[in-house]
Amino acid sequence: MTRRFADLAFTPNVCAQQVRHGSRTQYARMQATGGEPDRLGPEETEFLEDADSFYLATVSETGWPYVQHRGGPKGFLTVLSPQRIAFADYRGNLQYVSAGNAVGNDRAALIVMDYVHRSRLKLLGHLHFEDVNEADAELVRKVSPSGYSAKVERIAIIDVAAFDWNCPQHITQRYSRQQVEVMIDSLRAQIASLEQKLEEARRQGSAAS
Ligand SMILES: Cc1cc2nc3c(=O)[nH]c(=O)nc-3n(C[C@H](O)[C@H](O)[C@H](O)COP(=O)(O)O)c2cc1C
Repeated sequence: MTRRFADLAFTPNVCAQQVRHGSRTQYARMQATGGEPDRLGPEETEFLEDADSFYLATVSETGWPYVQHRGGPKGFLTVLSPQRIAFADYRGNLQYVSAGNAVGNDRAALIVMDYVHRSRLKLLGHLHFEDVNEADAELVRKVSPSGYSAKVERIAIIDVAAFDWNCPQHITQRYSRQQVEVMIDSLRAQIASLEQKLEEARRQGSAAS
């Protein structure tokens, strides 16, 4: 956990819980008030740019948190700089809950999962959306996945405040269909070759009888 993440996540109520459960002394050492936002390093950049989905939480004017899924082809999440990430936001159910929430409160949280390697990255940041027709054309080009049919409506830009890696505990290993297809390709080839050998043996057997 970065000191910045602890600073943002460890509110007075959170600290009170840590005191109650005996972990405050340990966690207080991690906390540093103020200071610069975290910067994404090569490990975070590679992880984020390899993702094909993540969960995005925003905060409404009524104080309710709102979590929504965002997905796309691998690479749809772009790291623009060590402190800025972006993605193309597609036309959906026309509810615009995340977009509306970000107008009133730009605080957002992301959780990005890699089920294959059982790792996850949590990220806090400031989110704003830019209409695709008003955004910088170079930015739109950079964040819009090529060959993906969804209609890009706006660009989501997140200025990173802090991030934290989590341990793999309780993450069930899962593979996407595409990953499974690659894994079973060699098995398919093996089955085809065995079937061919079996067929040849059958033919030789019936010719001999
Ligand atoms: C036709 C259509 C219907 C959808 N219906 C739902 C739905 O009922 N619930 C849902 O969570 N997402 C639904 N989605 C996906 C959301 O529209 C999409 O995740 C969008 O980004 C949600 O943004 P928001 O929750 O920030 O408003 C639908 C998408 C399309 C294209």
